[in-house]
Amino acid sequence: MGILPAFAAAAAVLQLSVMAETFAQPPVFQDLPDVDLIRVEDTFYYSSSTFHYSPGAPILRSYDLVNWEYLSHSLPTFEFDDPKFNLTEGRAYNDGVYASSLRYHKSQNKFYWVGCMQGHGRTYIYTAPEIDGPWVKASTIIDYCLYDAGLLIDDDNTIYVASGKWTPNGAESQTWIAALNENLQVERQESVFQSNEELGYIEGARFYKINGTYFLWLTNPGVGRGQIMLRSSGDVWGPYDSWHRVLANNGAPIEGSGAPHQGALVDTSDGQYWYMAFVELGTSGRFPVLAPLEWDEDGWPNVVFDENGHWKSSYDYPLPRRDVEPIEGRFEFADSKIPARFEWNHNPDNEKWLTGHDGLMLHTATVTDDFFAARNTLTHRILGPQSNVTIDLDYSSMADGDRAGLATLRYNAGWIGVAKDGNSTTVQMVDHVEMDPSNDFVTVSKGDVIAEEPILGDRIWLRCQISTKSPNLSIFSYSTDGETFIELGQAHETQQGAVWFTGTRHGIFNFATKNHGGYVVVKAFDIHLH
Ligand SMILES: *[C@@H]1O[C@H](CO)[C@@H](O)[C@H](O)[C@H]1NC(C)=O
Ligand SMILES: *[C@@H]1O[C@H](CO)[C@@H](O)[C@H](O)[C@H]1NC(C)=O
Ligand SMILES: *[C@@H]1O[C@H](CO)[C@@H](O)[C@H](O)[C@H]1NC(C)=O
Ligand SMILES: *[C@@H]1O[C@H](CO)[C@@H](O)[C@H](O)[C@H]1NC(C)=O
Ligand SMILES: *[C@@H]1O[C@H](CO)[C@@H](O)[C@H](O)[C@H]1NC(C)=O
Repeated sequence: MGILPAFAAAAAVLQLSVMAETFAQPPVFQDLPDVDLIRVEDTFYYSSSTFHYSPGAPILRSYDLVNWEYLSHSLPTFEFDDPKFNLTEGRAYNDGVYASSLRYHKSQNKFYWVGCMQGHGRTYIYTAPEIDGPWVKASTIIDYCLYDAGLLIDDDNTIYVASGKWTPNGAESQTWIAALNENLQVERQESVFQSNEELGYIEGARFYKINGTYFLWLTNPGVGRGQIMLRSSGDVWGPYDSWHRVLANNGAPIEGSGAPHQGALVDTSDGQYWYMAFVELGTSGRFPVLAPLEWDEDGWPNVVFDENGHWKSSYDYPLPRRDVEPIEGRFEFADSKIPARFEWNHNPDNEKWLTGHDGLMLHTATVTDDFFAARNTLTHRILGPQSNVTIDLDYSSMADGDRAGLATLRYNAGWIGVAKDGNSTTVQMVDHVEMDPSNDFVTVSKGDVIAEEPILGDRIWLRCQISTKSPNLSIFSYSTDGETFIELGQAHETQQGAVWFTGTRHGIFNFATKNHGGYVVVKAFDIHLH
């Protein structure tokens, strides 16, 4: 009996070395923009921006750069004495964590994360002894918004941050370097690069030291979709007078996507360099794409393109494949911690939710008739290219006026859920819930009940499907036995076009329109590709 598995494993290893396995873009089909990447020994970590979602700045782990699993967050909560992040006074929609940076400090054996809080103006540094925490606020940098920060820990352990600067007129197409002192405050900051017409508008700084040379890795967002690299062969402060164009509109590695840009570089322990950029894909969000780099004689890295100069839709695996937790799954919320793939819409009211053997108990956390004003909506990124979510909901303890269910949200939303009004309990499909992104994200429409059906009992299954063919359409259905699903209402259309940086998400919600006191129990959340 003992021989067979060992033999099978040996055969699998043999097979791997014979057949080069390829991966398809994107390595992880979820909205994970503003990639930063690090390697610690043989493990890779991926950090991403999350805007107003809490906890912020998720960390994913991989051993092969292709298969990623959610691990933790660098920003446990927005603890900044600013009520808009709690959604109690004002709202932080689209503010919060912009491009931020993760590094491992070898000699301190500590992880560092830095980010400017957009819409709040300050920069925060968090550190952790282990990648999965505890992450603790180590510094508040009051007078600086280190916009799109890129950390570098130099060989002498000095910590530098390359960044842009946010002005009332927007970011200013300039790169600054800040040196931090022992208290993690800015000791010196210098502008080291002002972009020009030839290179275009730049932001999204990453900062590297490779074989003794300092490199700035900068992006041209918008129509240009490019990436440039600058270097200073001597001093950390420059001059950064030598440059190289890495990307300029190099194709659409995912069908229908924009061109790759921004992101980060990482090396493998066997000396290869890889580039994880991201592409935009309509309302679905921004997805990572991965490609190998080759260094040329002049000491610049170049993406390995296809014969047309396009980023390929597939490459050979960087390293032997190693599976991690799958992106599809069933979550029953039995542990005290909510899995890291979920994030709340703003800081939650922690008195109002509980996990346990029955599932996730959600007490109403806000009395409102406005979905976007309700706290404690638990979100999950939609899965590309098709997302299929079902929640199993016990609604027996809802109070008069409560609304609970499953939403699709961006700056507009639609939902299916249970509405309790007096003695009437119905399942409703509500559409046209909408904020105005050009006017402080005020709610301009609280939604229309498109369809409703009376229901009896205490349990309902609610489903949302977002198909490949129309990634901005959500189809909602429900079941009272968990087997037969009935479509309700109309297809909800996620809107595109306004300045809103996060992709479409699924959201589980429960809010009161009259009084607190009611609750629901989410017995399971199932997410699948279909
Ligand atoms: C936000 O909520 C947290 C947790 O409930 C609380 O400690 C904090 O004081 C609140 N912050 C503000 C500014 O209201
Ligand atoms: C760094 O230097 C080592 C040793 O000379 C060399 O093997 C390697 O290719 C260099 N890496 C880069 C990215 O230039
Ligand atoms: C709700 O049900 C109770 C008990 O059957 C009844 O007394 C009450 O009139 C009902 N309320 C409404 C609004 O129908
Ligand atoms: C939804 O996506 C389709 C293309 O798939 C596009 O034509 C349509 O304009 C989008 N709708 C909105 C509201 O953005
Ligand atoms: C959606 O997922 C459920 C399992 O949660 C599955 O039974 C159903 O068939 C899926 N729907 C599609 C269209 O794949």
